[in-house]
Amino acid sequence: MSYDPELYEAAKKIWKNSHSPYSKVQVASAVRTEDGKIYVGINVENASYGATVCAERVAIWNAATYGNRKIKEIVIYTTFSPPLAPCGMCRQVMSEFISAEDADQIKVTTLNDRGEAITHSFAELLPMSLAPERVLNLK
Ligand code: THU
Repeated sequence: MSYDPELYEAAKKIWKNSHSPYSKVQVASAVRTEDGKIYVGINVENASYGATVCAERVAIWNAATYGNRKIKEIVIYTTFSPPLAPCGMCRQVMSEFISAEDADQIKVTTLNDRGEAITHSFAELLPMSLAPERVLNLK
């Protein structure tokens, strides 16, 4: 599966802004929303380690901040090999803004600057996700 090179470029561009003095794991993410816009984020660590937030969550919340709540594609950029895996908490945050019916079409790609890329559909990354539909339709 392929990924959108514009998302790669957008993430790469802001990657250096990663605030990761503790882990030194610099991460950037870019998401494409339904209206075609791109939103980016970097991981923001904290001296109280548990207050750290991953790059994907920052990118997704950035999109939501601008009123774009439908995500079409996600890219995660690092310089590591093999490419980093998105954490479980980020997968759950993704599920809030990826509609269940689109989950097998939406691509999540983790990649690096050496040309390695691993793409999964969101449905593969988080089967049976606790998406909004499941909670809103409880009977
Ligand atoms: N991190 C991300 O930003 N995204 C991921 O997909 C995995 C991990 C960050 C969190 C922390 O700042 C550092 O990478 C090490 O886990």
